[in-house]
Amino acid sequence: DRQPIVAIDGPAGAGKSTVARQVAAQLELVYLDTGAMYRAMTWLVLQRGITLDDECAIAELADKYEIELTPTSNLQSPVKVWIDGNDVTQVIRTPEVTANVSAIAAQTSVRKSLVRQQKNWGKKGGLVAEGRDIGTHVFPDAEIKIFLTASVKERARRRQLDYETQGLSSINLKQLEKDIAERDWKDSTRTVSPLRKAEDAVELQTDGLSISEVTGKIVYQYQKHL
Ligand code: C5P
Repeated sequence: DRQPIVAIDGPAGAGKSTVARQVAAQLELVYLDTGAMYRAMTWLVLQRGITLDDECAIAELADKYEIELTPTSNLQSPVKVWIDGNDVTQVIRTPEVTANVSAIAAQTSVRKSLVRQQKNWGKKGGLVAEGRDIGTHVFPDAEIKIFLTASVKERARRRQLDYETQGLSSINLKQLEKDIAERDWKDSTRTVSPLRKAEDAVELQTDGLSISEVTGKIVYQYQKHL
C-alpha cells in the first residue's frame, strides 16, 4: 500500500515549483521537480554539443544517464540536481537551457527514460510531483491532482523576479511574455504527453493569489481527501 501522491501540473511560470515545495514541506512529503530532470538532460545535450535534431545521440544519452535529485528540507535553497557527476543545480536555470528544454522534452526517448525514473520515485508514494504530465501520464492514479494556471502577463512578471534574484535583471518583460507563450504552445501541441489538465484535476487560477494562499488551497484538497 502506497502513501498518497499529489500531482501538480501547469504551464511555465504558474508558480508550481514554489508552491509544490511549500506543500511538500507542510505535509512532510517528498518533493519531485520533474522539470529539473528535463532541464538536466537538456544541459547534458548542449554540453556534449549534440544538435537538437540528432534524435539517436539524444536517445543514447537518455538511456545511459540517470538523474540524481537530493531533496533539501530547507525551503530557501533549491533541490540539488546531478547528472553525469556534475552538479547542475544552477546551470539548468539559465536562459539557454530554458530556451531549449521544450525541444528535448518533446522527444519520445527522453520522456520514456525520465518517466521511468519518475515512476520509481513514486513507488512508495508520499510525494508531491510537479510538471506537465504528472496527473495525465506519470501518476494517473494520483489521489490529488491540481492544475495551476495564471495569465501570461502574471507568469512573465514572476519569471522576471526569479531572474532578478539570480542577478539576471536585463531580461525584458515583453520578451519573457513572448518566450512563455511560445513554450506554452510547444508544450501543449507536442504529440507525446502534451500539457493538459487531467479530467479529474482541480484547476486553480493563481493571478493575484499569494504563495501561501495557493499552498493553503492545495493542502485543503489533500486533507479533504484523507
Ligand atoms: O517546470 P519547468 O519550467 O522547469 O519545466 C521545463 C520544461 O520541461 C517544460 O517547459 C517542458 O517542456 C518540460 N517538462 C515536461 N514534462 C514535465 C516537466 C517539464 O515536458 N513533467
